[in-house]
Amino acid sequence: MYAAFRSIGAYAPEKILTNSDLSEMVETTDEWITKRTGIKERRIAASDETTSDMGVKACEKAIARSGIAANEIDMIICATISPDYFCMPSTATVIATKLGLPAITAFDISAACTGFVYILSIAKAFIESGMKKNVLIVGAEKLSAITDYSDRGTCILFGDGAGAALIGATSNKAEAIIDVHTGSDGTYADLLMTPNGGSGSAHDALDREAAGCYMKMKGNETFKVAVRTLTSDVVAILKENNIDATAIKHFIPHQANYRIIKAVGDALKMRDEQVVLTVAKYGNTSGASIPMAMNDIYESGQLQAGELMLLDAFGGGLTWGSALLPFAPKL
Ligand code: UT7
Repeated sequence: MYAAFRSIGAYAPEKILTNSDLSEMVETTDEWITKRTGIKERRIAASDETTSDMGVKACEKAIARSGIAANEIDMIICATISPDYFCMPSTATVIATKLGLPAITAFDISAACTGFVYILSIAKAFIESGMKKNVLIVGAEKLSAITDYSDRGTCILFGDGAGAALIGATSNKAEAIIDVHTGSDGTYADLLMTPNGGSGSAHDALDREAAGCYMKMKGNETFKVAVRTLTSDVVAILKENNIDATAIKHFIPHQANYRIIKAVGDALKMRDEQVVLTVAKYGNTSGASIPMAMNDIYESGQLQAGELMLLDAFGGGLTWGSALLPFAPKL
């Protein structure tokens, strides 16, 4: 049995936060943000809109487009670093219940911006082992809830949103997800982290800033490790699978920074039309960024059955991953 990537869906909240809005909040400019990151605006969830609310909207689209009935779904995995609840219940169980799928296997994973590639690998493994048949994967983030809007090094980067996909069993090898790489290196943990709020230290829940519950990032060092690690990882996954970069129809990288995407794309000699870019309009939505970008090309009619995709991602942990797969809607 193989695992096929059946469908994609996404949701972006209505409210737009532009670079010029941010320039009134911290010492920055539209010109600096555009030049250094490629970001022009990002979406921000409503105050009463949760990560699971956004995840549900993305999942509903992915299910409706999959040709698979909701009652055939036997597992849901959510990748998030901004869960509805600090420890429990998992955001996946909340989403499953809101979708009317309360009795299925449901859990969250934490791999930051690499989360979607990690849940893709888990879905693939469960399906190939025969343990599950139809797995709903969702990357959903309300990063605005853990962003310090007085820190210009991070607040210009992040946005909210969700993206979901239905991964289903198939006996047709041509439809199969070809390969997924995942990796991590905890020695770089301090480059990108929320320093407090966990079991490692006491915190005052009333003051999230003082408690260190917001994201902190050593941006420039993270940038350098991202370019180096991603480049070697995507080169390796292509080589191991005997696939030339020219065969990739859609290179869909994690949308953290245009300069990182460009450096990795250039290393693979990708043509502009191969590279999917949504960083300008959504910013960095962590685990949601790859499926949101994929949904954009799907909804604009650019993603067709059988087309080969290369995904890559890098994030806190540090973690990284890549995936090679054809788009395989049920025909
Ligand atoms: O998604 C998970 C992984 N995350 C990433 O991959 C993000 C990786 N990092 C980045 O994208 C970039 O490092 C940033 C966009 C965060 C920063 O860009 P940079 O080119 O690495 O800038 P820098 O941190 O080296 O800072 C350069 C200068 C500094 O000023 P001085 O020391 O040269 O006077 C910063 O203080 O830019 C200053 N700066 C800003 N200026 C205006 C930093 N942030 C801002 C800002 N507006 N928002």
